[in-house]
Amino acid sequence: MRQAGRYLPEYREVRASVDGFLDLCFTPELAVEVTLQPIRRFGMDGAILFSDILVVPHALGQAVAFEEGCGPVLEPIGSAAELGRLSMTEFHDRLAPVYETVRRLAEALPAETTLIGFAGAPWTLAAYMVEGGSSRDFAAVKGWAYSNPESFGRLIDLLVDATASYLVRQIEAGAEAVQIFDSWIGVLPEPALRRWGLEPTREVVRRVKAASPRTPVILFPRGAGVLYADYAAECGADGLSLDTTVPVGWAAEAVQPRCVPQGNLDPVALAVGGPALRQEAERILGTFGRGGPFVFNLGHGVLPQTPPEHVAELASLIQGWKS
Ligand code: CP3
Repeated sequence: MRQAGRYLPEYREVRASVDGFLDLCFTPELAVEVTLQPIRRFGMDGAILFSDILVVPHALGQAVAFEEGCGPVLEPIGSAAELGRLSMTEFHDRLAPVYETVRRLAEALPAETTLIGFAGAPWTLAAYMVEGGSSRDFAAVKGWAYSNPESFGRLIDLLVDATASYLVRQIEAGAEAVQIFDSWIGVLPEPALRRWGLEPTREVVRRVKAASPRTPVILFPRGAGVLYADYAAECGADGLSLDTTVPVGWAAEAVQPRCVPQGNLDPVALAVGGPALRQEAERILGTFGRGGPFVFNLGHGVLPQTPPEHVAELASLIQGWKS
């Protein structure tokens, strides 16, 4: 959950040394350094590969840029006719620097630190690809999915192929667990959420498990609400990352018996620090601690304004609780 990033001065320094954000993702030496920075400082149990979910549309041939202050910008795929712009032909060659980063990290990390690879889920990738960036209402991508499910399904199928094979390559390169981010699935009503979120994600999990049965797979269907229980029951994943709005008492009953819950501290509590942070962290630890194994995490990424000292305090609180 955005372990590295703009809240760390050492990240900002590396970021300032390259032109574009994608250059950082595609330069193994720098991507390794940025992945290791939070681990050196805070000693988390897991290190998440430094990259971005949008390297996948880039590798499929879509133009992707990260512009200062306005997030990602993509040349939108507006219709079925434009699907021809995407192709798997050079996909893995373009992603070779990411695989190289994973190989170097597998060497560099201490044995007790789990290396986590990741990818975006098909729906969330499709959302950025069709909207051309972030969106308020997702009218373009939902509009296509509702009005022409057959052709939209072809985009989703391509993204299932791309995502599954990308994750398998990361595992072959040394990733010890993988997380699939469906950050925007929460904008869909139930039938569409199942069709474009749960089902394609389940297929990605199936393919990853077929290639590497023992590698843990963690899902993050942000905003899935009560359907988190269905993800736990139906997807064959090992872990389920909960967003901040999921009540932990509910998740301890509906998720934890089937799937290891991960979460879900409000990133704002981390930014604020003090008693609000300690209270919230202890509430989560206390509830999941009674139910079985769990992974402590945030409900979403670390905010750029977060003081690194708050992250240090949280890490030592959790490490103390564990022991
Ligand atoms: O430790 C880590 O940070 C791991 C690497 C990581 C990044 N992005 C780096 C990043 C991971 C796991 C992601 C996932 C990601 N990227 C998601 C899914 C998780 C989520 O946040 O919901 C999504 C939706 C994206 C797409 C994306 N990337 C957006 C919308 C933005 C711009 C918004 C922002 O916060 O600036 C990015 C840029 C990005 N990806 C940054 C980082 C550290 C900030 C870029 C910078 O340094 O200028």
